[in-house]
Amino acid sequence: MGEEILRSGMPYELLPLIKQKIIPQKIAVPAALDFDNIIKVQRVRHEWTVTGGWCLVDVTWTKKLADWIGDRVVLSVMSGFGMLERALQDHGVQVRATDRHIESFDRCWTHIEAVNCVAAIHKYALKSDILLMSWAPYDEDAASVAAMEWRRVRREGGVTDPSWIIFIGESKGGCTADDKFFDEAQLIELPEIDAVNKLFPRFPSIHDRVMVVQ
Ligand SMILES: C[S@@+](CC[C@H](N)C(=O)[O-])C[C@H]1O[C@@H](n2cnc3c(N)ncnc32)[C@H](O)[C@@H]1O
Repeated sequence: MGEEILRSGMPYELLPLIKQKIIPQKIAVPAALDFDNIIKVQRVRHEWTVTGGWCLVDVTWTKKLADWIGDRVVLSVMSGFGMLERALQDHGVQVRATDRHIESFDRCWTHIEAVNCVAAIHKYALKSDILLMSWAPYDEDAASVAAMEWRRVRREGGVTDPSWIIFIGESKGGCTADDKFFDEAQLIELPEIDAVNKLFPRFPSIHDRVMVVQ
């Protein structure tokens, strides 16, 4: 009999699972870290980012987010390997995943269209309801430019629904998105997103969360 693979647990216990492209049911966050565990978590975080992605994706919190999205169509830019997008698709959400640079199709969790975020927005903004950005880079202006284009294309296209963006990352001054993105974004307080964040796991010392902005 083969070794049984854990479907819920700490990030380091779940690496074999994500190497097989199986989305964990529930990721537990280590409560306290001794020195050995800090080293282990750093190593695992590196492996996680090159196998799955930058946030800790599990079935549990993505189901709550999928319930809030409902039948709205999501355009994801800067999707990386698309683990989050696959999790949402598994819950029945219509998500189009894009990234400017696809290092290796073998690493992708879903189909990723190779396109720059601005070009993706020009192509799909009027066919989508929500823009998704997870862990946009902090050292370039892709997040603020994408958000600006998303709002502009929809406004000029006559869309009257709010141009919401699901942003996953740290707050202003953290390691995701440029400052201009936060200066121009209006945070929308939603109890459903608070409920997602109660389930959202994060690596120790990382302060990412799910936000909805417009
Ligand atoms: C830190 S990774 C985050 C990937 C994924 N969203 C996640 O949460 O794991 C940032 C991604 O943004 C992409 N990216 C950066 N600038 C971009 C741009 N201007 N247009 C499209 N993709 C871009 C990179 O190729 C990379 O895959």
